[in-house]
Amino acid sequence: MSERNSFFSAGGDAGRYETSSGSYSRKRRIRGRAGLRDMVRETSLSVRDLICPMFIAENAADAGPVASMPGVVRHRLDDLEREIEQVAARRIPAVLLFGIPSHKDAQGSGAYDSNGVIPAAIRRIKASREDLIVVADVCLCEYTDHGHCGIVREDHIDNDETLPLLAKAAVAYADAGADVVAPSAMMDGQVAAIRSALDANGRHETAILSYAVKYASALYGPFRDAAACAPKFGDRRSHQMDPANVREALAEAEADVAEGADLLMVKPAGAYLDVIAAVRQRCPQVPLAAYQVSGEYSMIKAAAANGWIDERRVVIETLTAIKRAGADIIITYFAKDAAEYLHS
Ligand code: PBG
Ligand code: ZN
Repeated sequence: MSERNSFFSAGGDAGRYETSSGSYSRKRRIRGRAGLRDMVRETSLSVRDLICPMFIAENAADAGPVASMPGVVRHRLDDLEREIEQVAARRIPAVLLFGIPSHKDAQGSGAYDSNGVIPAAIRRIKASREDLIVVADVCLCEYTDHGHCGIVREDHIDNDETLPLLAKAAVAYADAGADVVAPSAMMDGQVAAIRSALDANGRHETAILSYAVKYASALYGPFRDAAACAPKFGDRRSHQMDPANVREALAEAEADVAEGADLLMVKPAGAYLDVIAAVRQRCPQVPLAAYQVSGEYSMIKAAAANGWIDERRVVIETLTAIKRAGADIIITYFAKDAAEYLHS
Protein backbone atom coordinates (compact mmCIF):
# COMPACT_ATOMS: atom_id res chain seq x y z
CA MET A 1 0.00 0.00 0.00
CA SER A 2 1.68 3.21 -1.10
CA GLU A 3 -1.03 5.69 -0.05
CA ARG A 4 -1.81 6.42 3.55
CA ASN A 5 -5.00 4.55 4.18
CA SER A 6 -7.08 7.29 5.75
CA PHE A 7 -10.17 5.13 5.90
CA PHE A 8 -8.56 3.19 8.73
CA SER A 9 -6.90 6.17 10.40
CA ALA A 10 -8.28 7.59 13.60
CA GLY A 11 -10.11 10.88 13.17
CA GLY A 12 -10.72 13.72 15.58
CA ASP A 13 -9.01 13.60 18.92
CA ALA A 14 -9.15 9.85 19.40
CA GLY A 15 -5.84 8.35 20.45
CA ARG A 16 -4.11 11.68 21.04
CA TYR A 17 -1.92 12.16 24.05
CA GLU A 18 -0.30 15.44 24.99
CA THR A 19 3.50 15.35 25.15
CA SER A 20 5.66 17.54 27.37
CA SER A 21 6.14 20.04 24.54
CA GLY A 22 2.41 20.48 24.22
CA SER A 23 2.14 18.67 20.89
CA TYR A 24 0.50 15.31 20.49
CA SER A 25 1.79 11.76 20.12
CA ARG A 26 -0.09 9.53 17.73
CA LYS A 27 1.30 6.01 17.66
CA ARG A 28 -0.52 5.32 14.41
CA ARG A 29 1.61 7.78 12.40
CA ILE A 30 4.24 5.09 11.88
CA ARG A 31 1.73 2.39 10.95
CA GLY A 32 -0.04 4.05 8.03
CA ARG A 33 2.42 3.21 5.25
CA ALA A 34 3.97 -0.13 4.38
CA GLY A 35 7.41 1.43 3.81
CA LEU A 36 7.38 3.04 7.22
CA ARG A 37 6.16 -0.13 8.90
CA ASP A 38 9.06 -1.97 7.27
CA MET A 39 11.53 0.60 8.58
CA VAL A 40 10.35 0.44 12.18
CA ARG A 41 9.96 -3.33 12.40
CA GLU A 42 11.95 -4.46 15.45
CA THR A 43 12.30 -8.14 14.60
CA SER A 44 13.40 -9.54 11.29
CA LEU A 45 12.94 -13.10 10.23
CA SER A 46 15.41 -14.43 7.69
CA VAL A 47 15.86 -17.68 5.84
CA ARG A 48 19.34 -17.73 7.42
CA ASP A 49 17.67 -18.36 10.79
CA LEU A 50 16.06 -21.63 9.75
CA ILE A 51 16.93 -25.28 10.21
CA CYS A 52 14.88 -27.87 8.33
CA PRO A 53 14.29 -31.18 10.15
CA MET A 54 14.44 -34.35 8.02
CA PHE A 55 13.41 -37.94 8.68
CA ILE A 56 15.43 -40.61 6.93
CA ALA A 57 14.34 -44.24 6.67
CA GLU A 58 17.00 -46.93 6.34
CA ASN A 59 14.39 -49.32 4.86
CA ALA A 60 12.67 -47.99 1.75
CA ALA A 61 9.50 -49.71 3.05
CA ASP A 62 9.39 -47.26 5.99
CA ALA A 63 9.58 -44.17 3.75
CA GLY A 64 6.58 -42.08 2.76
CA PRO A 65 4.30 -39.32 4.03
CA VAL A 66 3.69 -38.80 7.75
CA ALA A 67 -0.10 -38.87 8.22
CA SER A 68 -0.19 -36.56 11.26
CA MET A 69 2.21 -34.04 9.64
CA PRO A 70 0.82 -33.14 6.19
CA GLY A 71 3.68 -32.14 3.90
CA VAL A 72 6.35 -33.97 5.94
CA VAL A 73 7.92 -37.07 4.45
CA ARG A 74 10.16 -39.86 5.67
CA HIS A 75 12.84 -39.88 3.01
CA ARG A 76 14.56 -42.89 1.51
CA LEU A 77 18.31 -42.97 1.86
CA ASP A 78 18.74 -43.37 -1.90
CA ASP A 79 16.45 -40.42 -2.61
CA LEU A 80 17.98 -37.83 -0.29
CA GLU A 81 19.65 -35.70 -2.93
CA ARG A 82 16.34 -34.43 -4.32
CA GLU A 83 15.19 -33.12 -0.92
CA ILE A 84 18.61 -31.66 -0.23
CA GLU A 85 18.47 -29.77 -3.53
CA GLN A 86 15.10 -28.30 -2.53
CA VAL A 87 16.46 -27.17 0.81
CA ALA A 88 19.61 -25.71 -0.73
CA ALA A 89 17.69 -24.02 -3.56
CA ARG A 90 15.73 -22.10 -0.94
CA ARG A 91 19.01 -21.07 0.71
CA ILE A 92 18.11 -22.76 4.01
CA PRO A 93 21.51 -23.11 5.68
CA ALA A 94 21.02 -26.30 7.70
CA VAL A 95 19.18 -29.58 8.14
CA LEU A 96 18.56 -31.57 11.34
CA LEU A 97 18.57 -35.32 10.79
CA PHE A 98 16.48 -38.02 12.48
CA GLY A 99 16.92 -41.68 11.57
CA ILE A 100 14.40 -44.50 11.28
CA PRO A 101 16.59 -47.62 11.55
CA SER A 102 15.86 -51.01 9.97
CA HIS A 103 16.57 -52.71 13.28
CA LYS A 104 15.81 -51.80 16.90
CA ASP A 105 17.18 -53.45 20.05
CA ALA A 106 17.36 -52.81 23.79
CA GLN A 107 20.70 -50.96 23.51
CA GLY A 108 19.74 -48.79 20.53
CA SER A 109 22.79 -50.03 18.67
CA GLY A 110 21.61 -48.53 15.38
CA ALA A 111 22.22 -45.10 16.85
CA TYR A 112 25.99 -45.57 17.14
CA ASP A 113 26.64 -47.98 14.27
CA SER A 114 29.12 -46.18 12.00
CA ASN A 115 27.30 -47.78 9.04
CA GLY A 116 23.85 -46.94 10.43
CA VAL A 117 21.22 -44.80 8.76
CA ILE A 118 22.46 -41.42 10.01
CA PRO A 119 26.16 -41.81 9.14
CA ALA A 120 25.06 -43.08 5.70
CA ALA A 121 22.72 -40.09 5.26
CA ILE A 122 25.40 -37.60 6.34
CA ARG A 123 27.89 -39.01 3.85
CA ARG A 124 25.33 -38.78 1.03
CA ILE A 125 24.35 -35.21 1.91
CA LYS A 126 27.95 -34.04 2.24
CA ALA A 127 28.83 -35.71 -1.07
CA SER A 128 26.15 -33.73 -2.89
CA ARG A 129 26.16 -30.44 -0.90
CA GLU A 130 29.32 -29.90 1.07
CA ASP A 131 28.24 -26.39 2.14
CA LEU A 132 24.93 -27.42 3.70
CA ILE A 133 25.27 -27.50 7.49
CA VAL A 134 24.36 -30.93 8.80
CA VAL A 135 23.07 -31.21 12.36
CA ALA A 136 22.55 -34.74 13.69
CA ASP A 137 20.13 -35.42 16.54
CA VAL A 138 21.70 -37.66 19.18
CA CYS A 139 19.32 -39.85 21.16
CA LEU A 140 18.55 -43.54 21.50
CA CYS A 141 14.73 -43.51 21.42
CA GLU A 142 14.41 -43.99 17.66
CA TYR A 143 16.74 -46.99 17.92
CA THR A 144 15.57 -48.81 21.06
CA ASP A 145 12.86 -51.49 20.88
CA HIS A 146 11.28 -50.07 24.06
CA GLY A 147 11.29 -46.50 22.70
CA HIS A 148 13.16 -44.95 25.64
CA CYS A 149 15.98 -42.43 25.28
CA GLY A 150 18.49 -44.54 27.22
CA ILE A 151 19.32 -47.93 28.67
CA VAL A 152 16.43 -49.31 30.74
CA ARG A 153 17.30 -51.07 34.02
CA GLU A 154 14.28 -52.46 35.87
CA ASP A 155 11.97 -49.48 36.21
CA HIS A 156 14.32 -46.64 35.32
CA ILE A 157 16.55 -45.23 32.59
CA ASP A 158 20.17 -45.54 33.66
CA ASN A 159 21.75 -42.15 33.13
CA ASP A 160 25.42 -43.08 33.37
CA GLU A 161 25.14 -46.27 31.33
CA THR A 162 23.54 -44.22 28.56
CA LEU A 163 26.23 -41.51 28.38
CA PRO A 164 28.97 -43.54 26.59
CA LEU A 165 26.42 -44.69 23.99
CA LEU A 166 25.35 -41.11 23.25
CA ALA A 167 29.02 -40.15 23.02
CA LYS A 168 29.69 -43.02 20.62
CA ALA A 169 26.78 -41.91 18.42
CA ALA A 170 28.06 -38.33 18.38
CA VAL A 171 31.54 -39.49 17.32
CA ALA A 172 30.05 -41.71 14.57
CA TYR A 173 28.10 -38.73 13.19
CA ALA A 174 31.08 -36.39 13.43
CA ASP A 175 33.27 -38.95 11.65
CA ALA A 176 30.67 -39.21 8.89
CA GLY A 177 30.86 -35.43 8.39
CA ALA A 178 28.25 -33.84 10.67
CA ASP A 179 29.05 -30.20 11.47
CA VAL A 180 26.94 -30.17 14.62
CA VAL A 181 25.65 -32.87 16.97
CA ALA A 182 22.49 -32.21 18.93
CA PRO A 183 22.00 -34.37 22.03
CA SER A 184 18.29 -34.60 22.84
CA ALA A 185 18.19 -37.40 25.42
CA MET A 186 18.16 -35.08 28.48
CA MET A 187 20.65 -37.29 30.33
CA ASP A 188 22.66 -35.39 32.94
CA GLY A 189 26.24 -34.86 31.82
CA GLN A 190 25.55 -35.71 28.16
CA VAL A 191 27.19 -32.55 26.82
CA ALA A 192 30.40 -33.14 28.80
CA ALA A 193 30.49 -36.83 27.79
CA ILE A 194 30.04 -35.95 24.12
CA ARG A 195 32.57 -33.09 24.20
CA SER A 196 35.30 -35.25 25.71
CA ALA A 197 34.60 -38.15 23.31
CA LEU A 198 34.67 -35.81 20.29
CA ASP A 199 37.94 -34.27 21.47
CA ALA A 200 39.48 -37.68 22.22
CA ASN A 201 38.70 -38.63 18.62
CA GLY A 202 40.17 -35.48 17.12
CA ARG A 203 36.78 -33.91 16.42
CA HIS A 204 37.62 -30.57 18.01
CA GLU A 205 35.72 -28.69 15.30
CA THR A 206 32.39 -30.47 15.73
CA ALA A 207 29.95 -28.18 17.54
CA ILE A 208 27.36 -29.23 20.11
CA LEU A 209 23.82 -27.87 19.93
CA SER A 210 22.38 -28.92 23.25
CA TYR A 211 18.68 -29.57 23.73
CA ALA A 212 19.36 -28.01 27.12
CA VAL A 213 15.78 -27.13 27.91
CA LYS A 214 13.48 -29.85 26.65
CA TYR A 215 10.08 -30.16 28.22
CA ALA A 216 8.02 -33.32 28.69
CA SER A 217 5.51 -31.94 26.20
CA ALA A 218 2.37 -33.42 24.69
CA LEU A 219 3.32 -31.57 21.51
CA TYR A 220 5.77 -34.30 20.40
CA GLY A 221 2.95 -36.70 19.47
CA PRO A 222 3.19 -36.41 15.66
CA PHE A 223 7.01 -36.72 15.80
CA ARG A 224 6.67 -40.03 17.62
CA ASP A 225 4.47 -41.24 14.75
CA ALA A 226 6.98 -39.98 12.21
CA ALA A 227 10.01 -41.53 13.93
CA ALA A 228 8.14 -44.51 15.44
CA CYS A 229 9.71 -43.76 18.82
CA ALA A 230 6.83 -43.57 21.31
CA PRO A 231 7.83 -45.30 24.55
CA LYS A 232 6.26 -48.79 24.80
CA PHE A 233 5.67 -48.24 28.53
CA GLY A 234 5.88 -45.24 30.87
CA ASP A 235 6.75 -41.76 29.64
CA ARG A 236 9.68 -39.32 29.48
CA ARG A 237 8.96 -37.35 32.64
CA SER A 238 11.94 -38.79 34.52
CA HIS A 239 14.33 -36.90 32.22
CA GLN A 240 12.42 -34.24 30.27
CA MET A 241 11.39 -31.11 32.15
CA ASP A 242 8.11 -30.26 33.83
CA PRO A 243 6.31 -27.62 31.69
CA ALA A 244 5.59 -25.71 34.90
CA ASN A 245 9.27 -24.85 35.52
CA VAL A 246 11.41 -21.97 34.32
CA ARG A 247 14.06 -21.49 37.04
CA GLU A 248 15.06 -25.11 36.43
CA ALA A 249 15.41 -24.27 32.72
CA LEU A 250 18.02 -21.64 33.57
CA ALA A 251 19.95 -24.16 35.67
CA GLU A 252 19.87 -26.65 32.76
CA ALA A 253 21.09 -24.01 30.32
CA GLU A 254 23.92 -22.84 32.58
CA ALA A 255 25.02 -26.42 33.26
CA ASP A 256 25.19 -27.18 29.53
CA VAL A 257 27.22 -24.05 28.80
CA ALA A 258 29.61 -25.08 31.58
CA GLU A 259 29.86 -28.58 30.04
CA GLY A 260 30.83 -27.13 26.68
CA ALA A 261 27.64 -26.56 24.70
CA ASP A 262 28.29 -24.25 21.73
CA LEU A 263 24.61 -23.54 21.10
CA LEU A 264 21.56 -24.00 23.31
CA MET A 265 18.02 -25.00 22.48
CA VAL A 266 14.61 -24.51 24.05
CA LYS A 267 11.91 -26.97 22.96
CA PRO A 268 8.99 -26.65 22.22
CA ALA A 269 8.93 -22.99 21.17
CA GLY A 270 5.49 -21.37 20.91
CA ALA A 271 4.20 -22.20 24.38
CA TYR A 272 7.61 -21.45 25.93
CA LEU A 273 8.41 -17.94 24.69
CA ASP A 274 9.01 -16.80 28.28
CA VAL A 275 11.60 -19.56 28.66
CA ILE A 276 13.32 -18.50 25.42
CA ALA A 277 13.48 -14.92 26.69
CA ALA A 278 14.81 -15.99 30.09
CA VAL A 279 17.52 -18.26 28.65
CA ARG A 280 18.55 -15.60 26.13
CA GLN A 281 19.05 -13.18 29.02
CA ARG A 282 20.82 -15.63 31.33
CA CYS A 283 23.21 -17.08 28.70
CA PRO A 284 24.10 -14.19 26.37
CA GLN A 285 27.42 -15.84 25.43
CA VAL A 286 25.87 -18.58 23.28
CA PRO A 287 23.50 -18.57 20.30
CA LEU A 288 20.04 -19.81 21.13
CA ALA A 289 17.86 -22.08 19.02
CA ALA A 290 14.17 -22.86 19.51
CA TYR A 291 12.33 -25.86 18.10
CA GLN A 292 8.82 -25.35 16.75
CA VAL A 293 7.90 -29.00 17.27
CA SER A 294 5.70 -31.45 15.44
CA GLY A 295 2.53 -30.69 17.44
CA GLU A 296 2.90 -26.98 16.79
CA TYR A 297 3.22 -27.75 13.07
CA SER A 298 0.27 -30.13 12.99
CA MET A 299 -2.05 -27.77 14.86
CA ILE A 300 -1.40 -25.01 12.34
CA LYS A 301 -1.76 -27.42 9.41
CA ALA A 302 -5.04 -28.83 10.71
CA ALA A 303 -6.62 -25.43 11.36
CA ALA A 304 -5.45 -24.16 7.97
CA ALA A 305 -6.80 -27.26 6.20
CA ASN A 306 -10.19 -26.46 7.73
CA GLY A 307 -10.00 -22.91 6.45
CA TRP A 308 -10.01 -21.57 10.01
CA ILE A 309 -6.70 -19.71 9.84
CA ASP A 310 -4.47 -18.31 7.09
CA GLU A 311 -1.51 -20.73 7.10
CA ARG A 312 1.00 -18.40 5.54
CA ARG A 313 0.30 -15.53 7.92
CA VAL A 314 0.24 -17.78 10.97
CA VAL A 315 3.56 -19.37 9.99
CA ILE A 316 5.28 -15.98 9.64
CA GLU A 317 3.64 -14.68 12.83
CA THR A 318 4.65 -17.67 14.97
CA LEU A 319 8.23 -17.72 13.65
CA THR A 320 8.57 -13.95 14.15
CA ALA A 321 7.32 -14.33 17.73
CA ILE A 322 9.94 -16.99 18.43
CA LYS A 323 12.66 -14.63 17.19
CA ARG A 324 11.20 -11.68 19.08
CA ALA A 325 11.35 -13.75 22.28
CA GLY A 326 15.11 -14.12 21.76
CA ALA A 327 15.86 -17.11 19.54
CA ASP A 328 18.63 -16.69 16.95
CA ILE A 329 17.84 -19.95 15.17
CA ILE A 330 14.51 -21.69 14.57
CA ILE A 331 14.05 -25.37 13.82
CA THR A 332 10.73 -25.73 12.02
CA TYR A 333 8.94 -28.17 9.73
CA PHE A 334 7.74 -25.04 7.90
CA ALA A 335 11.33 -24.18 6.88
CA LYS A 336 10.82 -24.76 3.15
CA ASP A 337 7.47 -22.94 3.08
CA ALA A 338 8.75 -20.08 5.21
CA ALA A 339 11.80 -19.71 2.95
CA GLU A 340 9.49 -19.34 -0.04
CA TYR A 341 7.36 -16.75 1.74
CA LEU A 342 10.48 -14.83 2.77
CA HIS A 343 11.94 -14.89 -0.74
CA SER A 344 8.69 -13.69 -2.37
C1 PBG B 1 14.05 -37.58 20.50
C2 PBG B 1 13.36 -36.35 20.01
C3 PBG B 1 11.99 -36.05 20.09
C4 PBG B 1 11.83 -34.84 19.41
C5 PBG B 1 13.08 -34.44 18.96
N1 PBG B 1 14.02 -35.39 19.36
C6 PBG B 1 10.88 -36.82 20.63
C7 PBG B 1 10.73 -36.98 22.08
O1 PBG B 1 11.50 -36.49 22.90
O2 PBG B 1 9.80 -37.70 22.44
C8 PBG B 1 10.52 -34.12 19.20
C9 PBG B 1 10.47 -33.24 18.00
C10 PBG B 1 9.11 -32.87 17.54
O3 PBG B 1 8.07 -33.14 18.19
O4 PBG B 1 9.04 -32.26 16.48
N2 PBG B 1 14.45 -37.54 21.82
ZN1 ZN C 1 14.88 -39.54 22.91
